[in-house]
Amino acid sequence: MAEQGAIEVTSLTGPALQTPVDLLALVSFGDPAKDPIFKSADLTLGGVLGEVARTESFEGKSNQSITVHTHGRLPAKRIVVVGGGPRSEFGNPNLRDVAATVAQVANKVGAVTVGFVLPPLGANREAALVQMATEGVHLGTYKFGRYLTSEDQRRPTSLKNFGVFMDLKGKKPTAAQTKAFAAAVMRGTTIANAINHARDLINEPAAAVTPTALANDAQAIAKKHKGSISVTVLDAKKCEELGMGMFLAVGKGSDQEPRFIHMTYKPAKKPKKRIAFIGKGVTFDSGGYSLKPSQSMEDMKVDMSGAAAVISAMDAIATLGSDHEIHVVTACCENLVSGRAYKLGDVLTSMDGTTVEINNTDAEGRLTLGDAITYTRTKIQPDEMFDFATLTGACMVALGPYTAGVMSDHEALLRGWMHTAERTGEDMWRLPLTSRLREQLKSPIADMRNTGDRFGGAITAGLFLKTFAKDTPWVHVDIAGPASLSTTRPSQPKGGTGFAVATIVEYATSR
Ligand code: BES
Ligand code: MN
Ligand code: ZN
Repeated sequence: MAEQGAIEVTSLTGPALQTPVDLLALVSFGDPAKDPIFKSADLTLGGVLGEVARTESFEGKSNQSITVHTHGRLPAKRIVVVGGGPRSEFGNPNLRDVAATVAQVANKVGAVTVGFVLPPLGANREAALVQMATEGVHLGTYKFGRYLTSEDQRRPTSLKNFGVFMDLKGKKPTAAQTKAFAAAVMRGTTIANAINHARDLINEPAAAVTPTALANDAQAIAKKHKGSISVTVLDAKKCEELGMGMFLAVGKGSDQEPRFIHMTYKPAKKPKKRIAFIGKGVTFDSGGYSLKPSQSMEDMKVDMSGAAAVISAMDAIATLGSDHEIHVVTACCENLVSGRAYKLGDVLTSMDGTTVEINNTDAEGRLTLGDAITYTRTKIQPDEMFDFATLTGACMVALGPYTAGVMSDHEALLRGWMHTAERTGEDMWRLPLTSRLREQLKSPIADMRNTGDRFGGAITAGLFLKTFAKDTPWVHVDIAGPASLSTTRPSQPKGGTGFAVATIVEYATSR
């Protein structure tokens, strides 16, 4: 998998302008001339910083940055000032991109040590900001380089120590502050590692990340957390015995055997709730006989992003610990074309007995998820369940590439989830489960068909899944857009994003 330079995040006690680091980093919220930290740095440098800011039109907007050499006027070799945008609009998750920018500048100029002045946004936000900075450092230095063979592309990165200056007003940190800092760094590192692991699984070609490979990955994570995680992997025969007619039909066209993965995390104490996270694990989606055109198929190795998110999140959940019993479920298979593949017009019998007429073999995700939901509802009987799926292009048409569509008819559960997503900065937006659209799923010969019309495609997919969720509190998250991106931001290179990992981990470990 991708190489991870071991970057350590440590606390520094300042004063920042007197500390010898290779790169000193400041955040400026809007006009740097109004920022006291910027002004004192500028004064020490004889006005050079302000001059560079003016000539390069640096206005402290987000994604702007300037880097200057200090030529011995400061113990730090260089200073980078990163724009944060307006202070009032700056949320904790915004610090990820800021820290990612700093880490990237450090690697570009060959800096080994960084001193990052944590923006003073109030003591109550400090721990969250340290966590976000840590996440940003690790997310911003992620690169999927496994298949790059030239030295140049794999060039080792220089950054080793990312120091964070706390706003201590000249005092020494208390024991409680030191402990809180270490906990925030550990939390940020754990979450970023899980996100980067999900990115690796998504970015790997489908030839490497098969259903069996995903099962092996889940088993490796369980082995790492022997005391708290157990895993069961069901093969086709076992799934057949359980009656998973929809899941098995989708995988039939492939020579890769399907795998149904169930991971269980048990806390040391009596669990408060039982929560299940289900992920779509189609390791490649050709569309089947409703074949996708080449362009739409090109990126379909990402169709297991939901599985990657829930499996990777479990690693972080076990590391951080949760008060809840956590289950991860993913029905993994490949949707291909062959003499054994399922066909249009086939009628499948799902695990809960519902019969489904196939009018589109490319609407395969809901078939695999339907059986995964039934398994979860009946075998695990959770208090709450969530599914994450690269389910519909229609969701991307509705919300664009960056935003996940969230559907649920359980108001309280939905609200809890959306609040968690707000804290982690993952972009999610509610779509309605308009029940009138259910008429599109009517079949003349079976209980249901698997595909509705073009308009409302994300919603009919959600309604299809609701059939299997029944009365168990359930939230559906369509991540077709944000799971993999062709545009970048500092904390996010092109490709698999690891979307949903942060919110899943936050939800499981903080309530
Ligand atoms: N895996 C796709 C959805 C998808 C599209 C994910 C783009 C990521 C990026 C899913 O299985 C699919 O093919 N959905 C169809 C549903 C349709 C046939 C009702 C779609 O969106 O076209
Ligand atoms: Mn499909
Ligand atoms: Zn799919």
